[in-house]
Amino acid sequence: MPSLNEIRATFLDYFAKNDHLAVASAPLVPQNDPTLLFVNAGMVPFKNYFTGAESPPAPRATSSQKCVRAGGKHNDLDNVGYTARHHTFFEMLGNFSFGDYFKERAIEHAWTLLTREFKIPAERLLVTVYATDDEAHALWKKIAGLPDEKIIRIATSDNFWSMGDTGPCGPCSEIFYDHGDHIAGGPPGSPDEDGDRFVEIWNLVFMQYEQFADGLRADLPRPSIDTGMGLERVAAVLQGVHDNYDIDLFRALIAASKALTGPGDAASEPSHRVIADHLRSSSFLIADGVTPSNEGRGYVLRRIMRRAMRHAHLLGAQDPLMHRLVPALVEQMGAAYPELRRAEAAIIDTLRQEEERFRRTLGRGSALLEEAAAGLGEGAVIPGEVAFKLYDTYGFPLDLTQDAVRSRGITVDVEGFEVAMNRQREQAREAWTGSGQVAQASEWFALRDRLGPSDFIGYEASEATAEVLSLVADGVEVDQASAGQTVQALFDRTPFYAESGGQAGDAGEVEWTGGVARVLDTQKQAGDLFAHKLEVVSGVLKPGERVRLAVAADARAATRSNHSATHLLHAALRNVLGPHVSQKGQMVDGERIRFDFSHGQPLTADEIDRIEAEVNAVIRQNLPADLQVMAPQAAIEAGAMALFGEKYGDSVRVLALGRALDGEGAYSVELCGGTHVARTGDIALFKIVSEQGVAAGVRRIEALTGEAARRWLLEQAGVSRTLAEQFKIPVSEVAARVESLEAQRRRLEKDLADAKRQLAMGGGSGGSAPAEAEDIGGVMILARVMEGVGGKDLRPIAEAFKKQVPDGVIALVGVAEGKGAVTVAVTGAAQSKFSAVELAKAAVTAMGGQGAGGRPDFAQGGAPDGSKAAEGLAAVKAALAG
Ligand code: ALA
Repeated sequence: MPSLNEIRATFLDYFAKNDHLAVASAPLVPQNDPTLLFVNAGMVPFKNYFTGAESPPAPRATSSQKCVRAGGKHNDLDNVGYTARHHTFFEMLGNFSFGDYFKERAIEHAWTLLTREFKIPAERLLVTVYATDDEAHALWKKIAGLPDEKIIRIATSDNFWSMGDTGPCGPCSEIFYDHGDHIAGGPPGSPDEDGDRFVEIWNLVFMQYEQFADGLRADLPRPSIDTGMGLERVAAVLQGVHDNYDIDLFRALIAASKALTGPGDAASEPSHRVIADHLRSSSFLIADGVTPSNEGRGYVLRRIMRRAMRHAHLLGAQDPLMHRLVPALVEQMGAAYPELRRAEAAIIDTLRQEEERFRRTLGRGSALLEEAAAGLGEGAVIPGEVAFKLYDTYGFPLDLTQDAVRSRGITVDVEGFEVAMNRQREQAREAWTGSGQVAQASEWFALRDRLGPSDFIGYEASEATAEVLSLVADGVEVDQASAGQTVQALFDRTPFYAESGGQAGDAGEVEWTGGVARVLDTQKQAGDLFAHKLEVVSGVLKPGERVRLAVAADARAATRSNHSATHLLHAALRNVLGPHVSQKGQMVDGERIRFDFSHGQPLTADEIDRIEAEVNAVIRQNLPADLQVMAPQAAIEAGAMALFGEKYGDSVRVLALGRALDGEGAYSVELCGGTHVARTGDIALFKIVSEQGVAAGVRRIEALTGEAARRWLLEQAGVSRTLAEQFKIPVSEVAARVESLEAQRRRLEKDLADAKRQLAMGGGSGGSAPAEAEDIGGVMILARVMEGVGGKDLRPIAEAFKKQVPDGVIALVGVAEGKGAVTVAVTGAAQSKFSAVELAKAAVTAMGGQGAGGRPDFAQGGAPDGSKAAEGLAAVKAALAG
């Protein structure tokens, strides 16, 4: 019986043999499409090839594409766990023709693969075609020899596939497998088609149109083919099972879940399925750079994770469970998807942290929900208020609450939930009104209405003459600002960049006849007013004044160079670490670059070196920066990297830098409103100075360029030069010298500890050192104070004394740096009478300390006051005397 991994390979091999380019799965976060939450079909990465916006690398392709359907047009989240074949994550096998072959070849390939390669009996297969598609009907008859009743015409949207509300689309033909009459259900198009007997395994889409947002539909440049076969479904067929969750992959994941929670009864089956499914989607999303949050993609991930975590809780898991299942998943899928291996540590970390966080409220939330559902029967509705409280106070996403009561036939009042949610938003807004911030904000909006947006001329110029339009102090317009005052100034035009897109606002100077002011920072107000925070140095500034504006030239040049280098860094990270890297935040100013990105583990020295080498190689190309202003959609289609969730205006600036190091095209293309260098050579030098983790799955790089990078390198060199001078050796020998000094220090420390021990054992260390053991109430005790011996050195000394006291008690108090350390060992028959822990505690307590720990035969504790060592030993003796 073929395994899931073998079935995937057979599919890809078949199409590769038939001249299809085998393409690796794209990341789950769409790289070329801001309209889509997640890649939800195999064709998504190829969308631009279908529409003609980009030319494909080959006319035919095949892939096994990771897909998530948990939000947006195709959403299967609610059904997972309760049906035989819904998943939030699945793999879609596909073959694609970009204007190459069309219906006939597509049907031939599908039929050959299914009946010859996979050896599925032809009589088990039937197909549907779009009602008016006579051509497809005739082709199925000709190629597969199917009788009319097995080529079913369907007039509904079931047989017209589209990617989303917009994008490529066309009529389709679906291939069904008949699992046999022991399972209820009718063929497609029949009244009981929703049964489970006939299962769609493959969808052939005859791509012909492109759908636009305004309702218009245009012909694609050339008819194309997009197909999608659910790998899990076809695996069920080929492995002779009816239920997707019975295939080898899911059996392994469910077994792992059961191994950790116990086998459970039939009622716990859906929970194991939900866990297995959600483990896959969460892990793959995290591997592709998504982190749990309260909005957008991050919230979908959080919903999936928490849903699984509630089921783990239902199964009685006492500790966070999900992260412990990751190794089982990596074992199953890591070979086909190496990103899973690369991100394993980040996945485990993210799942564990989220589950720990959610567990703090999960118990109480579940109890509240139980209370609300108690006594309710089938058909009852949980009030929206309750669902909202669960959401707001206990972190229960709405669909989790729905899922929790679903098995009892209870639903949730979604409308009531929305009402409660809106009410809370209103209240939050009202709480704001009347506060200083809102007063200020409305003042700025009034100014914006009166003055219109600021005219930013800083892309071309760093100096300009302008007129003062308004001065604002503490949110109120003022008619002048004099020396020593700080105000916010609006000008009719400005070369000062206002902070946005991760680039800091500019600083600089304002001059007018009779006065000077320093611009400390520039920020946006009311969306597009550039407010210059300035401190008047001399003279009086008034609205209407003509002024000369000058951005601090050095800082501006350094900012430009840092910002352009950040784009190069982003591209280098993706080249070196993989396409899962996506930007999570950045801040560039005249001093340095700070860039946050998704990646699971610390970078190695070699990776950092390769990244720096790439960026510096592109800097040395010294090619002119290519800046174009275009419509956002055109920019994205041209391959510009866009950040999901960013809002773009009517036109965007697209910056291309450098030439790809091993291929065609630009090295980096990004949408960006920041200020940039004219040529890459202006950056001069790029150096990473630190790399660290800032959140689960998010790393931060700090880097320098140009003169700042040179100075940093100089400082580093200075450190080794100083050391070399101190040691009087060449710089190249410093590292070896430090290493040998370090080894020497370790040796000396050890010798010193040995010497101390020897001295102590010989009784020559002063203090109250009776050399012999004494008898107290019939028990032998050797009690000593040891000056200058720390706690960790006492253990071997006590061990050595055991020879002298084979049946009795050894009590040692070391005194070092004013502090005491107590060690008590109990040997031989004395062990049946005394516990070392109790004795050590007695000594520590007598010395003003808090207790001791260890085993009945050996215990240690620390005491703050070493001067009470004698009292400590006296306490032990007193305890022996009873
Ligand atoms: N794009 C088609 C689907 O997802 C093949 O069903």
